[in-house]
Amino acid sequence: MTLRPLNIDPSKCFIAGAWVNPIGQEVLPLLNPSDGTTLCQIARGKSEDIDAAVNAADAALAGDWGKATAAERGRVLSTIGRAVLTHVDELAKLEAVDVGKPLAQARADVLALARYLEFYGGAADKIHGETIPYLDGYTVYTLREPHGVTGHIIPWNYPMQIIGRSVGAALAMGNACVLKPAEEACLTALAFAEIAHQAGLPAGALNVVPGLGAEAGAALSAHKGVHHISFTGSVGVGKLIQATASENVVPVTLELGGKSPQVVFDDANIDAALPFLVNAGIQNAGQTCSASSRILVQRGVYDQVVAAMAARYNALRAGPALDNLDVGPLVSPRQKEIVEGFIAKGADLTCVARGQIIDGAPIGGAYVTPTLFADVPPDHTLAQDEIFGPVQVIIPFTDEAEAIAIANGTAFGLVASCWTENGARQMRMARALRAGQVFINNYGAGGGVELPFGGTGLSGHGREKGFEALYGFSTLKTVAVLHG
Ligand code: NAI
Ligand code: MG
Repeated sequence: MTLRPLNIDPSKCFIAGAWVNPIGQEVLPLLNPSDGTTLCQIARGKSEDIDAAVNAADAALAGDWGKATAAERGRVLSTIGRAVLTHVDELAKLEAVDVGKPLAQARADVLALARYLEFYGGAADKIHGETIPYLDGYTVYTLREPHGVTGHIIPWNYPMQIIGRSVGAALAMGNACVLKPAEEACLTALAFAEIAHQAGLPAGALNVVPGLGAEAGAALSAHKGVHHISFTGSVGVGKLIQATASENVVPVTLELGGKSPQVVFDDANIDAALPFLVNAGIQNAGQTCSASSRILVQRGVYDQVVAAMAARYNALRAGPALDNLDVGPLVSPRQKEIVEGFIAKGADLTCVARGQIIDGAPIGGAYVTPTLFADVPPDHTLAQDEIFGPVQVIIPFTDEAEAIAIANGTAFGLVASCWTENGARQMRMARALRAGQVFINNYGAGGGVELPFGGTGLSGHGREKGFEALYGFSTLKTVAVLHG
């Protein structure tokens, strides 16, 4: 396949509206996780490239981008969204090959990116301050203003979706962005920069510097010219980023994954639940922040649910991204090693089903066999830690109180779901579950861009998506005028 369908050059950074070599002239290999070959070389951006990107963002804020009205910003975002839709096939293929994601899932991500741009394009001029009744002789009002330069450090699992929710919202509020995509998958970030530029986004409003986390990522999070950091990725790096941001006293939004449960009660509509129970665990090979990796099932339907999930697992097929099967490879041999390490730690557990890696899947691909465990003690490593692979655990429970205790019994709290036909219990569970999003009789709600999203506990803090994100990507100024 051609890697330059959109005229991108992955060995370069995109800064101030142009493709530029990293100042150190170094590159890194980008792996194709479906077969282990090198797809291309990508720029190894470092702190001097981040400096250049931050300077370009500053210049954009001082220039056309900073002067654009909210309506003009919204129009540009909407135009970019439509431009993304004219490149659906190319972007889907790039994302599939780069991430190892089955093509249909990559295509859904392109559509989600376009939808974010449509949403934030429409929202840009609909967010405003207030007037506040105050002392006699005063008029007091608030202004929503951009932070300035926003830094976006994103992972490899959903590059396009995360660009949509974070860069889309930041641009809508008038910030200028510096984006550090993951070293494992950065092609669609670069393609997006090119598309946005062609669609009329002023130079410097979005700059992309590929590179390693410890180099370009650390430089971006520590940069004194960056006024807000949004990060999606591991807990460990999230802590580092929060510590670094505290040095500069800048706000951070952290989305650090989870161990999200689905709770199935005896009275649930099991047929309706089943596809969600499995798909939420194996989508993107389980490499999803909001993956449902724990399935809690009440004892009355326990055997039935275990058997039905096992049947689905036995039918799962893993293979190359472009074969568009149920599951692709993991993003890298390193992630494969981590996930296989977890599966090995389940040697003491009951493994009730495994899918299959198809015959002919390239030997060098990072494939992991989808694996389902049952009767898992709630305090087991596999029921506590984020695995980030196609692995789910089923845990039995007796009553509502026990279900809540188990569901809330990890350090995370990103999303949770509850399956029951009992309306009062639906309401109680919605309140009791510790998570940033709770789903009743569904999981994920189709990923709606309108729905605020974020975590509690180790899952992070701050909210992305929906209008909430626009508050996060802006700061509030109170103006008090004494006029007598
Ligand atoms: P990671 O947290 O190292 O990488 C995410 C992003 O952070 C990448 O762009 C990376 O270059 C950057 N980064 C790494 N070190 C940095 C530093 N010191 N300063 C600034 N930026 C830095 O995650 P990784 O290693 O790719 O995956 C490890 C585990 O993290 C996964 O197994 C999974 O459990 C979790 N994870 C969660 C994600 C989520 O969606 N919440 C996404 C990716 C990983
Ligand atoms: Mg890759």
